[in-house]
Amino acid sequence: PHVVRKAVFPAAGLGTRILPATVVVPKELLPIVDKPIIQFGVEEAAASGLTQVILVNSPDKTMLEKHFDRHSLLEDVLERRGKAALLDGWRELVESIELSTVYQADPLGLGHAVLVSRELVDDEPFAVVLSDDIIDADPPALRKMLDLYKEVDGPVLLVERVPPDAVSRYGIIAADAIGDGVHRVTDLVEKPPRDEAPSDLAIIGRYVLTPDVFPILAATGQGSGGEIQLTDGLRRLLEQRPIHAVELNGTRQDAGNKLGYLKAILYFAMKHPELAEAMPQLLAGGGTPR
Ligand code: G1P
Repeated sequence: PHVVRKAVFPAAGLGTRILPATVVVPKELLPIVDKPIIQFGVEEAAASGLTQVILVNSPDKTMLEKHFDRHSLLEDVLERRGKAALLDGWRELVESIELSTVYQADPLGLGHAVLVSRELVDDEPFAVVLSDDIIDADPPALRKMLDLYKEVDGPVLLVERVPPDAVSRYGIIAADAIGDGVHRVTDLVEKPPRDEAPSDLAIIGRYVLTPDVFPILAATGQGSGGEIQLTDGLRRLLEQRPIHAVELNGTRQDAGNKLGYLKAILYFAMKHPELAEAMPQLLAGGGTPR
């Protein structure tokens, strides 16, 4: 199998579930305590050995790619004030990845977003990261997926068991378990009604894909919600080659809606070195210690 270097980040969505916060600020830049949503996904990609980030952005949201540029004015001022450490982590991350952007003017669906990255991905296997799904796992979920990709030399999806009333919000797989949390996919369906779901295994926002998915996506019509669905493309790909899935061993926050966003903030605040101590009292309703 080829080495996977590239990660596609679909990010052309309008963030309608968190309006009006997202009128000007891209949803992906909303902070989880002190780190924007998208940085978690880019950190996961980098920690998994990926070096090329391909942003599929809206021409209206160019502030997003600027988060991964160097900013000499800010950096120089912090340096002079002895506060350069405030950018620790961010600086190393920005140095370790190469970012390119392609614009998706019409958000026609996730399958379309991936198709838009075709020229930048070229003839290589690649990862897809839906940055709304913030995943906390050790080892990183993507790294586990890339390890499996090396073994099976084919597409790998990340899945998580979800309650029955949630299946209609996800792509759901039918699958045969073949090992510890590893499945061989036998079918996929996007957002099935509760009583038609083939299992409780939901696809969550990480994929390792092969470039033979592109011609299929180019020929995929509208599916669920009138959108060109990646799940529908993968269903066709499954007729050509095996697809595997690995179950998440960690936590996932869906930061793309109000409640999930709030939960993500609380989750990472509880792990934050400056806030962890204050959080139990805050959550118990006792206010913050002085
Ligand atoms: C997308 C995919 C869906 C997947 C989900 C994971 O849906 O189409 O298959 O389960 O991401 O977050 P969306 O959440 O964009 O509607």
